[in-house]
Amino acid sequence: MAQLIDGKAVAARVRAEVKAEVDRLKAERGITPGLAVVRVGEDPASQVYVGGKKKAAAEVGFNSWEHHRDASITQDELLALVRQLNDDPAVHGILVQLPLPKHIDADAIISAVKPEKDADGFHPMNAGNLLLGRPATRACTPYGIMRLLEEIGCDPAGKRAVVVGRSNIVGKPMALMLLQKNATVTIAHSKSDVRREVEGADIVVVAVGVKELVKGEWIKPGAVVIDVGMNRLPDGKLVGDVEFAKAAERASYITPVPGGVGPMTIAMLIRNTLEAAERGVK
Ligand code: GUN
Repeated sequence: MAQLIDGKAVAARVRAEVKAEVDRLKAERGITPGLAVVRVGEDPASQVYVGGKKKAAAEVGFNSWEHHRDASITQDELLALVRQLNDDPAVHGILVQLPLPKHIDADAIISAVKPEKDADGFHPMNAGNLLLGRPATRACTPYGIMRLLEEIGCDPAGKRAVVVGRSNIVGKPMALMLLQKNATVTIAHSKSDVRREVEGADIVVVAVGVKELVKGEWIKPGAVVIDVGMNRLPDGKLVGDVEFAKAAERASYITPVPGGVGPMTIAMLIRNTLEAAERGVK
């Protein structure tokens, strides 16, 4: 039977570490880290995520601002808002909550954020530096997963890691971070034989947004299973992308949904913003 990876507890620890650093930064250098969150329209999931981010920011002693705009905002207006935040010395981290309305070119907005203030690690400069193995602000969800692996003493070196999903937000940066830690990495996606790939994996990370796509019987005994999925059932219950109960019978460690990966994303966003403030970005 697998041990649960308690992301909620690890995230609380990360936030406590950040809070101690914030206290020091304020006392020694008179800097209060500032996080600006941009939310467009009324996507209910985005409202919940942004609420969580604001709460975490307040808890660690950051300044934070939510810039909420109507879904009818134009591309130029949104670009102007991003530029205003780029130029604001009180803002160290900028996050534009995705998804954006269809008439907005999300890539152009992400690229407009000053790379030094890109709390999400989505800017092409940060994504490219990660690819090259150079210092970069890291995408929060995979960065949080690397911390979870560390916490359970799982060293990816020499292990077979399979990442199911190839998004720019999770799958691709996840694969690169595992590679950097010397795993043998496979990215599986909708055209892959996912079962075959998962069956050979020592570390399985699933981020596709399809309820229980990965079956418990596919999991190699002793594997570490990280489930990024958050799928809402009609009865309101949340389930992941992995068939949890059956996977837990075979895995050595597994993340629950909720309470696994989710809390880590926000904790690492806070960490990224702190690090930007420490670097003195203005
Ligand atoms: N939408 C879903 N996840 C994320 C995230 O990590 N960052 C942003 N900005 N938007 C998201």
